[in-house]
Amino acid sequence: MTYSYEELQVLYKIARIIAGELEIRDQFKKVLDVLSEDLGMKRGMISILDFSTGEVWLDVIQGVDIPPAMISYRPGEGITGKVAQTGRPIAVANLGQEIHFLDRTGIRKHLNRSDLAFLCVPIRYQNRVVGILSADTVSKKNEKDLERELNILTAVSELLGKSVYFRAIEEENIRLKHIVADPKRPKTKIIGRSKGIQEVLRLIDQVAMSNMTVLIYGETGTGKELVAKSIHENSPRAKGPLITVNCAAIPDSLIESELFGHEKGAFTGAFYRRKGKFEEAHGGTIFLDEVGELPAGAQAKLLRVLQEREFEPLGSSKTIRVDVRIIAATNRNLQQEVTEGKFRADLYYRLNAFVITIPPLRERGADILLLADYFMEKYSKELGKSVKRISSPAAEVLLNYHWPGNVRELENTIERAILLATGDSIELSHLPPNLQPRSQASSLRSFGILKSMVEAYERSLIEEALRETGGNISKAARLLRTTRRIVQYKAAKYGLKFKP
Ligand SMILES: Nc1ncnc2c1ncn2[C@@H]1O[C@H](COP(=O)(O)OP(=O)(O)OP(=O)(O)O)[C@@H](O)[C@H]1O
Ligand SMILES: [Mg+2]
Repeated sequence: MTYSYEELQVLYKIARIIAGELEIRDQFKKVLDVLSEDLGMKRGMISILDFSTGEVWLDVIQGVDIPPAMISYRPGEGITGKVAQTGRPIAVANLGQEIHFLDRTGIRKHLNRSDLAFLCVPIRYQNRVVGILSADTVSKKNEKDLERELNILTAVSELLGKSVYFRAIEEENIRLKHIVADPKRPKTKIIGRSKGIQEVLRLIDQVAMSNMTVLIYGETGTGKELVAKSIHENSPRAKGPLITVNCAAIPDSLIESELFGHEKGAFTGAFYRRKGKFEEAHGGTIFLDEVGELPAGAQAKLLRVLQEREFEPLGSSKTIRVDVRIIAATNRNLQQEVTEGKFRADLYYRLNAFVITIPPLRERGADILLLADYFMEKYSKELGKSVKRISSPAAEVLLNYHWPGNVRELENTIERAILLATGDSIELSHLPPNLQPRSQASSLRSFGILKSMVEAYERSLIEEALRETGGNISKAARLLRTTRRIVQYKAAKYGLKFKP
Protein backbone atom coordinates (compact mmCIF):
# COMPACT_ATOMS: atom_id res chain seq x y z
CA MET A 1 0.00 0.00 0.00
CA THR A 2 1.44 3.35 -0.95
CA TYR A 3 0.21 6.56 0.60
CA SER A 4 -0.28 9.89 -1.10
CA TYR A 5 1.72 12.88 0.04
CA GLU A 6 -1.36 14.29 1.82
CA GLU A 7 -1.99 11.02 3.62
CA LEU A 8 1.60 10.84 4.80
CA GLN A 9 1.28 14.41 6.07
CA VAL A 10 -1.74 13.39 8.12
CA LEU A 11 -0.03 10.29 9.53
CA TYR A 12 2.95 12.42 10.51
CA LYS A 13 0.69 14.92 12.25
CA ILE A 14 -0.97 12.10 14.19
CA ALA A 15 2.35 10.51 15.12
CA ARG A 16 3.42 13.85 16.59
CA ILE A 17 0.26 14.14 18.68
CA ILE A 18 0.82 10.66 20.06
CA ALA A 19 4.47 11.37 20.86
CA GLY A 20 3.46 14.59 22.63
CA GLU A 21 2.81 15.37 26.26
CA LEU A 22 -0.98 15.31 26.30
CA GLU A 23 -2.94 13.00 28.57
CA ILE A 24 -4.06 9.90 26.72
CA ARG A 25 -7.73 10.81 26.34
CA ASP A 26 -6.79 14.28 25.10
CA GLN A 27 -4.43 12.67 22.59
CA PHE A 28 -7.33 10.57 21.34
CA LYS A 29 -9.55 13.64 20.97
CA LYS A 30 -6.88 15.46 18.95
CA VAL A 31 -6.29 12.48 16.68
CA LEU A 32 -10.02 12.20 15.98
CA ASP A 33 -10.15 15.95 15.22
CA VAL A 34 -7.40 15.48 12.63
CA LEU A 35 -9.33 12.59 11.04
CA SER A 36 -12.34 14.85 10.79
CA GLU A 37 -10.62 18.00 9.56
CA ASP A 38 -8.00 16.57 7.22
CA LEU A 39 -9.62 13.38 5.99
CA GLY A 40 -13.33 14.14 6.28
CA MET A 41 -13.87 11.16 8.60
CA LYS A 42 -16.58 12.38 10.96
CA ARG A 43 -17.79 11.16 14.35
CA GLY A 44 -14.60 9.20 14.99
CA MET A 45 -14.63 6.95 18.04
CA ILE A 46 -11.98 5.18 20.04
CA SER A 47 -13.16 2.32 22.21
CA ILE A 48 -11.07 0.25 24.56
CA LEU A 49 -11.24 -3.42 25.43
CA ASP A 50 -12.06 -4.76 28.88
CA PHE A 51 -9.64 -7.70 28.97
CA SER A 52 -11.58 -9.62 31.60
CA THR A 53 -14.97 -9.61 29.84
CA GLY A 54 -14.11 -8.95 26.20
CA GLU A 55 -16.54 -6.03 26.26
CA VAL A 56 -15.61 -2.85 24.43
CA TRP A 57 -16.10 0.52 26.13
CA LEU A 58 -16.51 3.71 24.19
CA ASP A 59 -13.77 6.00 25.49
CA VAL A 60 -13.68 9.06 23.25
CA ILE A 61 -15.97 10.34 20.54
CA GLN A 62 -15.09 13.20 18.24
CA GLY A 63 -16.64 16.55 19.05
CA VAL A 64 -18.62 15.34 22.12
CA ASP A 65 -17.46 15.27 25.73
CA ILE A 66 -18.45 12.08 27.49
CA PRO A 67 -17.33 10.56 30.74
CA PRO A 68 -15.52 7.24 30.23
CA ALA A 69 -17.23 3.86 30.55
CA MET A 70 -20.80 4.86 29.73
CA ILE A 71 -21.47 2.96 26.54
CA SER A 72 -20.36 -0.58 25.90
CA TYR A 73 -20.60 -3.33 23.32
CA ARG A 74 -20.53 -7.00 24.21
CA PRO A 75 -18.31 -9.27 22.11
CA GLY A 76 -20.00 -9.69 18.73
CA GLU A 77 -22.59 -7.00 19.43
CA GLY A 78 -23.03 -4.46 16.64
CA ILE A 79 -20.22 -3.69 14.23
CA THR A 80 -17.82 -2.54 16.95
CA GLY A 81 -18.38 -5.75 18.93
CA LYS A 82 -17.87 -7.85 15.79
CA VAL A 83 -14.55 -6.19 14.97
CA ALA A 84 -13.42 -6.71 18.56
CA GLN A 85 -14.39 -10.37 18.45
CA THR A 86 -12.88 -11.23 15.07
CA GLY A 87 -9.99 -8.78 14.98
CA ARG A 88 -10.85 -7.95 11.34
CA PRO A 89 -11.76 -4.54 9.94
CA ILE A 90 -15.26 -3.91 8.61
CA ALA A 91 -16.25 -1.30 6.04
CA VAL A 92 -19.93 -0.60 5.51
CA ALA A 93 -20.42 1.13 2.16
CA ASN A 94 -23.90 2.33 3.01
CA LEU A 95 -25.17 2.60 6.59
CA GLY A 96 -28.74 2.90 5.37
CA GLN A 97 -28.64 -0.77 4.37
CA GLU A 98 -26.77 -2.19 7.33
CA ILE A 99 -28.96 -4.00 9.87
CA HIS A 100 -26.19 -4.71 12.37
CA PHE A 101 -25.48 -1.05 12.90
CA LEU A 102 -26.66 -0.07 16.41
CA ASP A 103 -25.92 3.65 16.70
CA ARG A 104 -25.71 3.21 20.48
CA THR A 105 -24.73 6.83 20.91
CA GLY A 106 -27.73 8.11 18.95
CA ILE A 107 -25.59 10.79 17.29
CA ARG A 108 -26.73 9.83 13.79
CA LYS A 109 -30.39 9.99 14.67
CA HIS A 110 -31.02 13.08 12.56
CA LEU A 111 -28.71 12.24 9.70
CA ASN A 112 -29.65 10.37 6.60
CA ARG A 113 -27.81 7.12 7.07
CA SER A 114 -27.88 6.37 3.37
CA ASP A 115 -25.39 9.20 2.88
CA LEU A 116 -22.94 7.58 5.24
CA ALA A 117 -20.31 4.89 5.05
CA PHE A 118 -18.80 3.44 8.23
CA LEU A 119 -15.27 2.23 8.82
CA CYS A 120 -14.26 0.18 11.81
CA VAL A 121 -10.78 -1.24 12.47
CA PRO A 122 -9.18 -3.07 15.38
CA ILE A 123 -6.38 -1.40 17.31
CA ARG A 124 -3.63 -3.87 18.16
CA TYR A 125 -0.73 -3.87 20.51
CA GLN A 126 1.74 -6.74 20.49
CA ASN A 127 -0.54 -8.76 18.29
CA ARG A 128 -3.62 -8.55 20.37
CA VAL A 129 -6.70 -6.42 19.98
CA VAL A 130 -6.76 -3.70 22.64
CA GLY A 131 -9.35 -1.36 21.16
CA ILE A 132 -11.42 -0.23 18.20
CA LEU A 133 -11.17 2.82 15.97
CA SER A 134 -14.16 3.80 13.86
CA ALA A 135 -15.44 6.76 11.86
CA ASP A 136 -18.07 7.79 9.32
CA THR A 137 -17.29 8.95 5.80
CA VAL A 138 -19.58 9.84 2.92
CA SER A 139 -21.13 6.76 1.30
CA LYS A 140 -19.13 5.57 -1.65
CA LYS A 141 -20.05 4.35 -5.08
CA ASN A 142 -16.50 3.23 -5.65
CA GLU A 143 -15.17 0.27 -3.71
CA LYS A 144 -11.54 1.28 -4.29
CA ASP A 145 -12.04 4.62 -2.52
CA LEU A 146 -13.56 2.91 0.48
CA GLU A 147 -10.69 0.48 0.67
CA ARG A 148 -8.21 3.33 0.49
CA GLU A 149 -9.88 5.01 3.45
CA LEU A 150 -9.96 1.76 5.39
CA ASN A 151 -6.23 1.42 4.84
CA ILE A 152 -5.40 4.88 6.08
CA LEU A 153 -7.57 4.29 9.16
CA THR A 154 -5.68 1.04 9.76
CA ALA A 155 -2.41 2.96 9.62
CA VAL A 156 -3.76 5.37 12.22
CA SER A 157 -4.84 2.46 14.39
CA GLU A 158 -1.28 1.13 14.31
CA LEU A 159 0.03 4.44 15.57
CA LEU A 160 -2.52 4.35 18.39
CA GLY A 161 -1.72 0.83 19.63
CA LYS A 162 0.48 1.62 22.57
CA SER A 163 -1.59 4.52 23.92
CA VAL A 164 -4.80 2.51 23.71
CA TYR A 165 -3.15 -0.38 25.47
CA PHE A 166 -2.08 1.90 28.32
CA ARG A 167 -5.53 3.39 28.47
CA ALA A 168 -7.08 -0.10 28.69
CA ILE A 169 -4.73 -1.00 31.52
CA GLU A 170 -5.52 2.25 33.32
CA GLU A 171 -9.28 1.52 33.21
CA GLU A 172 -8.76 -2.09 34.16
CA ASN A 173 -6.74 -1.13 37.20
CA ILE A 174 -9.52 1.11 38.41
CA ARG A 175 -12.02 -1.72 38.05
CA LEU A 176 -9.86 -4.43 39.54
CA LYS A 177 -8.39 -2.60 42.48
CA HIS A 178 -10.59 -4.06 45.16
CA ILE A 179 -11.02 -7.48 43.54
CA VAL A 180 -7.25 -7.92 43.44
CA ALA A 181 -7.11 -6.97 47.10
CA ASP A 182 -8.91 -10.21 47.94
CA PRO A 183 -8.97 -12.84 45.21
CA LYS A 184 -11.08 -15.20 47.35
CA ARG A 185 -13.95 -12.76 47.40
CA PRO A 186 -16.97 -14.27 45.66
CA LYS A 187 -18.60 -12.14 43.01
CA THR A 188 -21.61 -10.15 44.11
CA LYS A 189 -24.67 -9.72 41.98
CA ILE A 190 -24.72 -6.03 42.72
CA ILE A 191 -24.53 -4.18 39.42
CA GLY A 192 -23.24 -0.64 39.11
CA ARG A 193 -20.29 1.50 38.14
CA SER A 194 -21.51 4.73 39.70
CA LYS A 195 -19.48 6.27 42.48
CA GLY A 196 -22.33 5.63 44.93
CA ILE A 197 -22.47 1.89 44.27
CA GLN A 198 -18.71 1.54 44.17
CA GLU A 199 -18.67 3.05 47.66
CA VAL A 200 -21.34 0.57 48.81
CA LEU A 201 -19.25 -2.32 47.43
CA ARG A 202 -16.18 -0.98 49.19
CA LEU A 203 -18.05 -0.84 52.51
CA ILE A 204 -19.41 -4.38 52.04
CA ASP A 205 -15.89 -5.55 51.41
CA GLN A 206 -14.63 -3.76 54.47
CA VAL A 207 -17.24 -5.07 56.90
CA ALA A 208 -18.18 -8.53 55.60
CA MET A 209 -15.40 -10.51 57.25
CA SER A 210 -15.99 -8.99 60.67
CA ASN A 211 -18.84 -9.72 63.03
CA MET A 212 -19.99 -6.12 63.17
CA THR A 213 -23.61 -5.07 63.25
CA VAL A 214 -24.52 -3.24 60.06
CA LEU A 215 -27.30 -0.74 59.44
CA ILE A 216 -28.38 -0.27 55.82
CA TYR A 217 -30.18 2.90 54.78
CA GLY A 218 -31.96 3.28 51.47
CA GLU A 219 -35.24 4.25 49.83
CA THR A 220 -37.62 1.51 48.84
CA GLY A 221 -36.27 -0.78 46.12
CA THR A 222 -32.67 0.45 46.23
CA GLY A 223 -31.26 -3.00 47.00
CA LYS A 224 -31.09 -3.14 50.81
CA GLU A 225 -31.89 -6.83 50.92
CA LEU A 226 -29.36 -7.53 48.16
CA VAL A 227 -26.66 -5.75 50.15
CA ALA A 228 -27.54 -7.69 53.32
CA LYS A 229 -27.30 -10.92 51.35
CA SER A 230 -23.99 -9.93 49.87
CA ILE A 231 -22.55 -9.19 53.32
CA HIS A 232 -23.70 -12.57 54.56
CA GLU A 233 -22.39 -14.44 51.52
CA ASN A 234 -19.00 -12.76 51.77
CA SER A 235 -18.67 -13.42 55.51
CA PRO A 236 -17.27 -16.42 57.39
CA ARG A 237 -20.93 -17.27 58.17
CA ALA A 238 -21.76 -17.85 54.51
CA LYS A 239 -22.44 -21.54 55.16
CA GLY A 240 -24.77 -20.71 58.04
CA PRO A 241 -28.38 -19.55 57.60
CA LEU A 242 -29.47 -16.07 56.54
CA ILE A 243 -32.82 -15.41 58.20
CA THR A 244 -34.84 -12.41 57.07
CA VAL A 245 -37.52 -10.82 59.22
CA ASN A 246 -39.65 -8.04 57.83
CA CYS A 247 -40.51 -6.14 61.00
CA ALA A 248 -43.17 -4.09 59.21
CA ALA A 249 -45.11 -7.15 58.05
CA ILE A 250 -45.69 -8.74 61.44
CA PRO A 251 -48.36 -7.42 63.85
CA ASP A 252 -46.95 -5.82 67.02
CA SER A 253 -48.56 -8.45 69.19
CA LEU A 254 -46.71 -11.28 67.47
CA ILE A 255 -43.32 -9.78 66.70
CA GLU A 256 -41.67 -10.72 69.98
CA SER A 257 -42.63 -14.35 69.72
CA GLU A 258 -41.62 -14.33 66.05
CA LEU A 259 -38.14 -13.05 66.90
CA PHE A 260 -37.47 -14.73 70.22
CA GLY A 261 -39.85 -17.70 70.25
CA HIS A 262 -42.29 -18.69 72.96
CA GLU A 263 -42.93 -21.43 75.49
CA LYS A 264 -45.99 -23.61 75.26
CA GLY A 265 -48.88 -21.72 76.85
CA ALA A 266 -47.07 -18.37 76.85
CA PHE A 267 -50.20 -16.71 75.52
CA THR A 268 -53.64 -17.71 74.27
CA GLY A 269 -53.13 -19.88 71.23
CA ALA A 270 -49.54 -20.85 72.04
CA PHE A 271 -50.06 -24.61 71.95
CA TYR A 272 -46.45 -25.52 71.23
CA ARG A 273 -43.03 -24.29 72.13
CA ARG A 274 -41.84 -22.33 69.12
CA LYS A 275 -38.32 -21.40 68.09
CA GLY A 276 -37.81 -17.75 67.24
CA LYS A 277 -35.92 -16.33 64.26
CA PHE A 278 -32.89 -15.58 66.41
CA GLU A 279 -32.54 -19.27 67.27
CA GLU A 280 -33.03 -20.21 63.63
CA ALA A 281 -30.24 -17.82 62.65
CA HIS A 282 -27.77 -19.43 65.09
CA GLY A 283 -24.36 -19.68 63.40
CA GLY A 284 -25.50 -17.33 60.65
CA THR A 285 -26.97 -13.91 60.07
CA ILE A 286 -30.31 -12.34 60.90
CA PHE A 287 -31.56 -9.56 58.65
CA LEU A 288 -34.03 -7.23 60.36
CA ASP A 289 -35.74 -5.39 57.54
CA GLU A 290 -37.66 -2.18 58.40
CA VAL A 291 -36.15 -2.21 61.88
CA GLY A 292 -37.66 1.24 62.50
CA GLU A 293 -41.07 -0.46 62.82
CA LEU A 294 -40.19 -2.49 65.92
CA PRO A 295 -42.48 -1.83 68.89
CA ALA A 296 -40.96 -0.79 72.24
CA GLY A 297 -40.96 -4.25 73.87
CA ALA A 298 -39.11 -5.86 70.99
CA GLN A 299 -36.69 -2.93 70.89
CA ALA A 300 -35.68 -3.57 74.48
CA LYS A 301 -35.12 -7.26 73.84
CA LEU A 302 -33.15 -6.57 70.70
CA LEU A 303 -30.89 -4.20 72.61
CA ARG A 304 -30.08 -6.97 75.04
CA VAL A 305 -29.27 -9.39 72.22
CA LEU A 306 -26.95 -6.79 70.73
CA GLN A 307 -25.19 -6.30 74.06
CA GLU A 308 -25.10 -9.82 75.41
CA ARG A 309 -26.23 -12.14 72.61
CA GLU A 310 -28.89 -13.60 74.89
CA PHE A 311 -32.63 -13.43 75.52
CA GLU A 312 -35.54 -15.35 77.03
CA PRO A 313 -38.37 -16.67 74.85
CA LEU A 314 -41.86 -15.42 75.77
CA GLY A 315 -43.22 -17.21 78.80
CA SER A 316 -39.90 -18.87 79.57
CA SER A 317 -37.33 -18.18 82.25
CA LYS A 318 -34.64 -20.09 80.43
CA THR A 319 -31.98 -17.84 78.90
CA ILE A 320 -30.94 -18.69 75.38
CA ARG A 321 -27.56 -17.71 73.99
CA VAL A 322 -27.08 -17.33 70.26
CA ASP A 323 -24.20 -16.71 67.90
CA VAL A 324 -25.80 -14.41 65.35
CA ARG A 325 -24.64 -11.52 63.26
CA ILE A 326 -27.21 -8.73 62.98
CA ILE A 327 -27.87 -6.69 59.88
CA ALA A 328 -30.70 -4.17 60.00
CA ALA A 329 -32.25 -1.99 57.33
CA THR A 330 -34.61 0.94 57.21
CA ASN A 331 -35.90 3.52 54.78
CA ARG A 332 -36.76 5.90 57.60
CA ASN A 333 -34.60 8.51 59.24
CA LEU A 334 -33.90 6.67 62.51
CA GLN A 335 -32.17 9.67 64.04
CA GLN A 336 -35.42 11.57 63.69
CA GLU A 337 -37.43 8.66 65.11
CA VAL A 338 -35.14 8.86 68.13
CA THR A 339 -35.74 12.59 68.50
CA GLU A 340 -39.46 11.98 68.29
CA GLY A 341 -39.22 9.30 70.95
CA LYS A 342 -40.34 6.48 68.66
CA PHE A 343 -37.03 4.63 68.65
CA ARG A 344 -34.73 3.95 71.60
CA ALA A 345 -31.58 6.06 71.51
CA ASP A 346 -29.38 3.33 73.04
CA LEU A 347 -30.57 0.83 70.45
CA TYR A 348 -29.99 3.37 67.70
CA TYR A 349 -26.37 3.89 68.74
CA ARG A 350 -25.76 0.15 68.84
CA LEU A 351 -27.19 -0.35 65.36
CA ASN A 352 -25.49 2.73 63.99
CA ALA A 353 -21.98 1.29 64.47
CA PHE A 354 -21.44 0.64 60.78
CA VAL A 355 -23.74 2.34 58.30
CA ILE A 356 -24.14 1.66 54.59
CA THR A 357 -26.26 4.16 52.69
CA ILE A 358 -27.50 3.10 49.27
CA PRO A 359 -28.13 6.09 46.99
CA PRO A 360 -31.44 6.25 45.09
CA LEU A 361 -31.30 5.15 41.45
CA ARG A 362 -31.85 8.65 40.08
CA GLU A 363 -28.50 9.66 41.55
CA ARG A 364 -26.63 6.82 39.92
CA GLY A 365 -26.42 8.22 36.40
CA ALA A 366 -25.08 5.64 34.00
CA ASP A 367 -26.08 2.67 36.19
CA ILE A 368 -29.62 2.95 34.86
CA LEU A 369 -28.73 1.52 31.45
CA LEU A 370 -26.31 -0.97 32.93
CA LEU A 371 -29.08 -2.36 35.15
CA ALA A 372 -31.59 -2.18 32.31
CA ASP A 373 -29.28 -4.31 30.14
CA TYR A 374 -28.81 -6.75 32.98
CA PHE A 375 -32.54 -7.16 33.58
CA MET A 376 -33.16 -7.37 29.83
CA GLU A 377 -30.86 -10.34 29.60
CA LYS A 378 -32.28 -11.93 32.74
CA TYR A 379 -35.95 -11.70 31.70
CA SER A 380 -35.27 -12.48 28.05
CA LYS A 381 -33.85 -15.77 29.21
CA GLU A 382 -36.56 -16.37 31.79
CA LEU A 383 -39.40 -15.61 29.41
CA GLY A 384 -37.84 -17.40 26.45
CA LYS A 385 -37.58 -14.28 24.29
CA SER A 386 -34.65 -12.98 22.32
CA VAL A 387 -34.76 -9.28 23.13
CA LYS A 388 -31.22 -8.03 22.76
CA ARG A 389 -31.26 -4.27 22.76
CA ILE A 390 -32.99 -1.16 23.99
CA SER A 391 -33.87 1.34 21.27
CA SER A 392 -32.40 4.81 21.65
CA PRO A 393 -35.73 6.57 22.32
CA ALA A 394 -36.59 3.98 25.00
CA ALA A 395 -33.15 4.30 26.59
CA GLU A 396 -33.52 8.06 26.62
CA VAL A 397 -36.83 7.81 28.48
CA LEU A 398 -35.33 5.40 31.02
CA LEU A 399 -32.52 7.88 31.64
CA ASN A 400 -34.82 10.85 32.08
CA TYR A 401 -37.30 9.24 34.48
CA HIS A 402 -36.84 9.89 38.21
CA TRP A 403 -37.46 6.29 39.44
CA PRO A 404 -39.27 6.78 42.76
CA GLY A 405 -39.41 2.96 43.12
CA ASN A 406 -35.70 2.67 42.32
CA VAL A 407 -34.13 -0.57 41.06
CA ARG A 408 -37.21 -2.65 41.76
CA GLU A 409 -39.31 -0.32 39.61
CA LEU A 410 -36.71 -0.47 36.84
CA GLU A 411 -36.68 -4.26 37.08
CA ASN A 412 -40.50 -4.43 36.82
CA THR A 413 -40.46 -1.97 33.93
CA ILE A 414 -37.99 -4.07 31.96
CA GLU A 415 -39.80 -7.33 32.74
CA ARG A 416 -43.02 -5.81 31.46
CA ALA A 417 -41.28 -4.51 28.33
CA ILE A 418 -39.87 -7.96 27.58
CA LEU A 419 -43.36 -9.44 27.95
CA LEU A 420 -44.72 -6.92 25.45
CA ALA A 421 -41.81 -6.98 23.02
CA THR A 422 -42.42 -8.80 19.76
CA GLY A 423 -39.09 -8.19 18.02
CA ASP A 424 -35.54 -8.14 19.26
CA SER A 425 -35.60 -4.74 20.92
CA ILE A 426 -37.36 -2.77 23.63
CA GLU A 427 -39.18 0.14 22.01
CA LEU A 428 -40.72 3.25 23.49
CA SER A 429 -44.20 1.72 23.18
CA HIS A 430 -43.22 -1.14 25.49
CA LEU A 431 -42.66 1.22 28.41
CA PRO A 432 -45.51 2.11 30.79
CA PRO A 433 -47.45 5.29 29.99
CA ASN A 434 -46.20 7.18 33.05
CA LEU A 435 -42.69 6.99 31.60
CA GLN A 436 -43.65 8.24 28.15
CA PRO A 437 -42.41 11.77 27.49
CA ARG A 438 -45.13 14.38 27.82
CA SER A 439 -44.05 16.24 24.73
CA GLN A 440 -42.09 15.38 21.64
CA ALA A 441 -39.52 17.96 22.69
CA SER A 442 -37.25 15.62 24.58
CA SER A 443 -36.80 13.17 21.71
CA LEU A 444 -36.01 15.96 19.28
CA ARG A 445 -32.79 17.01 20.92
CA SER A 446 -29.82 16.68 18.69
CA PHE A 447 -27.64 14.27 20.63
CA GLY A 448 -30.40 12.03 21.86
CA ILE A 449 -29.33 9.34 24.24
CA LEU A 450 -25.76 10.51 24.58
CA LYS A 451 -26.96 13.87 25.80
CA SER A 452 -29.29 12.20 28.30
CA MET A 453 -26.45 10.08 29.61
CA VAL A 454 -24.21 13.05 30.04
CA GLU A 455 -27.03 14.93 31.77
CA ALA A 456 -27.79 12.03 34.08
CA TYR A 457 -24.12 11.90 34.97
CA GLU A 458 -23.86 15.64 35.43
CA ARG A 459 -26.95 15.67 37.58
CA SER A 460 -25.61 12.92 39.84
CA LEU A 461 -22.31 14.78 40.27
CA ILE A 462 -24.04 18.01 41.25
CA GLU A 463 -26.52 16.23 43.52
CA GLU A 464 -23.65 14.50 45.28
CA ALA A 465 -21.68 17.73 45.70
CA LEU A 466 -24.72 19.51 47.10
CA ARG A 467 -25.38 16.71 49.54
CA GLU A 468 -21.80 16.70 50.69
CA THR A 469 -21.85 20.44 51.30
CA GLY A 470 -25.31 20.60 52.84
CA GLY A 471 -26.69 22.42 49.81
CA ASN A 472 -24.07 25.17 49.85
CA ILE A 473 -23.65 26.36 46.26
CA SER A 474 -20.26 28.03 46.71
CA LYS A 475 -18.71 25.01 48.39
CA ALA A 476 -20.25 22.66 45.82
CA ALA A 477 -18.80 24.81 43.05
CA ARG A 478 -15.36 24.57 44.61
CA LEU A 479 -15.67 20.78 44.91
CA LEU A 480 -16.60 20.54 41.24
CA ARG A 481 -13.99 23.09 40.24
CA THR A 482 -16.51 25.26 38.48
CA THR A 483 -18.31 28.51 39.11
CA ARG A 484 -21.12 29.26 41.53
CA ARG A 485 -23.23 30.53 38.67
CA ILE A 486 -22.98 27.28 36.73
CA VAL A 487 -23.83 25.10 39.75
CA GLN A 488 -26.80 27.29 40.59
CA TYR A 489 -28.04 27.23 37.02
CA LYS A 490 -27.67 23.45 36.66
CA ALA A 491 -29.14 22.72 40.11
CA ALA A 492 -32.20 24.74 39.19
CA LYS A 493 -32.38 23.03 35.80
CA TYR A 494 -32.36 19.57 37.39
CA GLY A 495 -34.71 20.62 40.19
CA LEU A 496 -32.16 19.93 42.92
CA LYS A 497 -32.52 21.49 46.37
CA PHE A 498 -29.95 24.04 47.44
CA LYS A 499 -29.59 26.99 49.77
CA PRO A 500 -30.12 30.20 47.82
N1 LIG B 1 -27.35 -2.91 42.21
C1 LIG B 1 -28.21 -3.90 41.86
N2 LIG B 1 -27.84 -4.80 40.95
C2 LIG B 1 -28.70 -5.78 40.57
N3 LIG B 1 -29.93 -5.93 41.05
C3 LIG B 1 -30.35 -5.06 41.98
C4 LIG B 1 -29.51 -4.00 42.43
N4 LIG B 1 -30.18 -3.29 43.36
C5 LIG B 1 -31.38 -3.87 43.48
N5 LIG B 1 -31.51 -4.94 42.66
C6 LIG B 1 -32.71 -5.78 42.50
O1 LIG B 1 -33.83 -4.93 42.69
C7 LIG B 1 -34.83 -5.57 43.45
C8 LIG B 1 -35.10 -4.78 44.72
O2 LIG B 1 -33.99 -4.89 45.60
P1 LIG B 1 -34.17 -5.17 47.17
O3 LIG B 1 -35.33 -6.05 47.45
O4 LIG B 1 -32.84 -5.58 47.69
O5 LIG B 1 -34.50 -3.68 47.62
P2 LIG B 1 -34.93 -3.13 49.06
O6 LIG B 1 -34.15 -1.88 49.27
O7 LIG B 1 -34.81 -4.22 50.06
O8 LIG B 1 -36.43 -2.75 48.80
P3 LIG B 1 -37.62 -2.50 49.90
O9 LIG B 1 -37.26 -1.24 50.63
O10 LIG B 1 -38.81 -2.33 49.03
O11 LIG B 1 -37.63 -3.70 50.76
C9 LIG B 1 -34.34 -6.97 43.71
O12 LIG B 1 -34.86 -7.83 42.71
C10 LIG B 1 -32.84 -6.84 43.57
O13 LIG B 1 -32.26 -8.05 43.19
MG1 LIG C 1 -36.32 -5.04 51.26
